[in-house]
Amino acid sequence: MHQVPFHRPCLGPDEEREVIEVLRSGWITTGPKAKRFEQEFAAYVGARYAVAVAHCTGALHLALYALGIGAGDEVITTPFTFTATAEAVAYLGARPVFVDLEPEGLNLDPAKVEELLQSGRLSRPRVLLPVHFAGQGCDMNRLLAIARRHGLKVVEDAAHAAGSAIRLDGRAMVKVGAIGDLSCFSFYATKNITTAEGGMVTTEDDALAHKIAVASLHGMNRDAWKRYDATGSWYYEIDELGFKYNLSDVHAAIGLAQLKRADEFQRRRAQIARAYNDAFAAQMALQTPRARADVEHAWHLYVLRLRSERLRIGRDAVVELLRRRGVGVSVHCIPLHLMRVYQVKYGYRPGDFPVAEDAYSRCLSLPIYPAMSERDVEYVIDTVLATVREHLN
Ligand SMILES: Cc1ncc(COP(=O)(O)O)c(C=O)c1O
Repeated sequence: MHQVPFHRPCLGPDEEREVIEVLRSGWITTGPKAKRFEQEFAAYVGARYAVAVAHCTGALHLALYALGIGAGDEVITTPFTFTATAEAVAYLGARPVFVDLEPEGLNLDPAKVEELLQSGRLSRPRVLLPVHFAGQGCDMNRLLAIARRHGLKVVEDAAHAAGSAIRLDGRAMVKVGAIGDLSCFSFYATKNITTAEGGMVTTEDDALAHKIAVASLHGMNRDAWKRYDATGSWYYEIDELGFKYNLSDVHAAIGLAQLKRADEFQRRRAQIARAYNDAFAAQMALQTPRARADVEHAWHLYVLRLRSERLRIGRDAVVELLRRRGVGVSVHCIPLHLMRVYQVKYGYRPGDFPVAEDAYSRCLSLPIYPAMSERDVEYVIDTVLATVREHLN
């Protein structure tokens, strides 16, 4: 039987060459490769500053920390995300305030955010933290306007969105990373570009970039990584306590090679998404994801929704059948308000966010990555269509 794993990273001779160069250089932790990765990533998204970190979870933590978020503050975000988004808020003693989604793209619904802010139910809203779900940009024109009106900072969780872009009012397409106050990226193994584990914060703000860079390595001054080098000094000062979130040169080296292929990866993802959408369009039991006209979708995930009323079996059974037939599928996301810790700690309950719950009950993610062959794509299409046809009402 043909097998298509849910994900396989696209790594080749360029990544190997970059990593070997680091291993032989005598300097394997944060150093020149990490610095170059920051510069090249900043140029890629069109941001003034980029700070490389160990993961997106750390990026989010540092971004909120740099904005001075602390106990009693409220951070407005989506429940339809990975736990890291809200976890970073909780690290600082602040409260993640979830708002439901717009039903098409499954991103934060700006109208519901505005309604909450006007309701008087919040006591200290400080940050709007949208997640560009699956790689499709949120409606940033409306979210930025709302944030401005209510004095909120905007931190974007761009874990899914390296390479995606949004048409801002009166401007050309702007890449995610050059839009809000701070954007946080992930280079986890499955992400659009990977460093195995890694992350990045981008910003236009000099002071925030500096604060994040210093805090990412124990609060030591910026060039402390050179302290074992003839060009550096053994002395460093600590003005504020920091964290251990620096990215090693071994990881950054992989990122440098991946970044060179980012546009090619992006084209292949979009091509696979188009092939899926074309193949599934006529099957009424399937709801395909649509890219809005005002965005460039990064297609980190291809999230299909079942039209449950047309099928005799539910999502879990479809996932199980596809897996048994060799198609690696997954489910994104399990809404956070359905998870025990968010219920116990913050009082969320099933039923709080009906759009997120409806999406969760019907969604599954198909394999989508540049290492897929044409045969892999065809196999996924044929297997999904056959499985659905066998169980139509
Ligand atoms: C939306 C979102 N935010 C944050 C993260 C955390 O990323 P990392 O694993 O790099 O910490 C993930 C990881 O999958 C994610 O999907």
